[in-house]
Amino acid sequence: MDAAQRAIGESRASLDPDYPRFHIAPPVGRLNDPNGLVVIDGVYHVFYQFGPFFPRDKAIYWGHASSADLVTWRSHAPAIAPADWYDRNGVYSGGAVVHDGRVWLHYTGNVKDAEGRREAYQCAVTTTDFEHFTKLEANPLISGPPEGYTAHLRDPYVVPDGEGFAMYLGAQRADNTGCVLAYHSDDLVEWRLVGELTFPDERYASYGYMWECPNLLRLPDADTGEEYDVLIVCPQGVGPRGDEFRNIFPCGYLVGHLDGTRFTPIGEFAELDSGFEFYAPQVFTVAPGEPEQPPLLVGWLGNGSEDGQPSLAEHGWVHALSVPRDLTLRGGRLHQLPRRIAGEPTLLEIAGSELAGEARELPELAGVRSFILDLSVDQRDAWSLRLGKRDGAHVTLAFERGALTVDRSTTRYPHGGVRRLAVPDLDRLDVTVVHDRSVTEVFLAAGHTAFSLRSYLDPDGFSVAVAGDAAVANAAAAVLE
Ligand code: FRU
Repeated sequence: MDAAQRAIGESRASLDPDYPRFHIAPPVGRLNDPNGLVVIDGVYHVFYQFGPFFPRDKAIYWGHASSADLVTWRSHAPAIAPADWYDRNGVYSGGAVVHDGRVWLHYTGNVKDAEGRREAYQCAVTTTDFEHFTKLEANPLISGPPEGYTAHLRDPYVVPDGEGFAMYLGAQRADNTGCVLAYHSDDLVEWRLVGELTFPDERYASYGYMWECPNLLRLPDADTGEEYDVLIVCPQGVGPRGDEFRNIFPCGYLVGHLDGTRFTPIGEFAELDSGFEFYAPQVFTVAPGEPEQPPLLVGWLGNGSEDGQPSLAEHGWVHALSVPRDLTLRGGRLHQLPRRIAGEPTLLEIAGSELAGEARELPELAGVRSFILDLSVDQRDAWSLRLGKRDGAHVTLAFERGALTVDRSTTRYPHGGVRRLAVPDLDRLDVTVVHDRSVTEVFLAAGHTAFSLRSYLDPDGFSVAVAGDAAVANAAAAVLE
């Protein structure tokens, strides 16, 4: 812990003009999955996979940040260190649950034996004050995989299940196919295997080679009021499928009904976010007594093996988390919109104007590098939105009816330049752009489509422009610098 604190103390990350203002990024080193998301006493706590010594050493801790408004994040000391025999090669991902006046954080202890073979231990810490995190005496709670599964068993997601608690674990069968295993506990300490989640459709018996980071939630369809179960999961080895699932590891969801361990989907496995960078999302646990709220999701805006980024070479940090996104289910599809937060949006000059082909800069956003922009556009034909310098590094979102092309090939980011995706073909398209220095998230058509990307632009001369044959019915922005 002391060594991690020293690394944080010596960090140059916050001096980086690319370091985001309202997205969580590591204070130093590497960040990956969000973990242990919980809202309690009006405060949102986000833990995350944290490698304070990366790339020199790959030790993984749980980092910790908190916020009351989802904009201003306070960075705390790391919560869990890889200091015990059962987690010595990494405190891997897991979730939060509130029980008995305590917050329980389950996680996977990753261990490599003398021959480099993997061992996986499911463990827990508890806390009452978010400063002291106590590993359970009973750790590890689950030692190794059951018969028929490999040591790729991780990422416990724990939820109350009526008579106690269910734990869902990302798993791999002995035949190297991926699945989810369910366990049950009355007390969060003693866990009993219930079995594998099964699906009527045979294809899920062999769908990728390892499923990571499962989440299971229940929510009503906003169109019909009918309740559904949603399984969000990252089945490694699946994709690409046309323009979809083009990242090194895919992340998507199934909507359906869970009965025991039998999951009956009503549709296809769908991609959660079509962007270049998005993986391993998690939904917040809401403590008993907190006001009811829609499920709130945070994802990792990164991909495995894409650590070679300008921020790492120049300022010693890499990766960020998405903004918290409200989830709604509409017509069997998950919609995501950033939770609206402090700061009233200001109406922009461009509202109510015809573009008639020409490029129009938005003067209100000149030089502003952290903002949320809402546009409502009557789409006649092709139109586009540019973030960054026209003759320098920029990201272009080029819309035509039913399709979006995202081009970041002029930016300082080396992992993929152009993506094309299908989007709803609407006369009026609502576009929300969340831009924060080197992070961009785009939400279309009331959150029907989400698209995230890292956008390393030039710090100087930043501007935003719209162009094409369209009318901007409405435009507003909240500046968050
Ligand atoms: C997903 C993942 C998890 C694991 C963690 C390790 O990105 O591979 O399955 O717990 O990252 O950092």
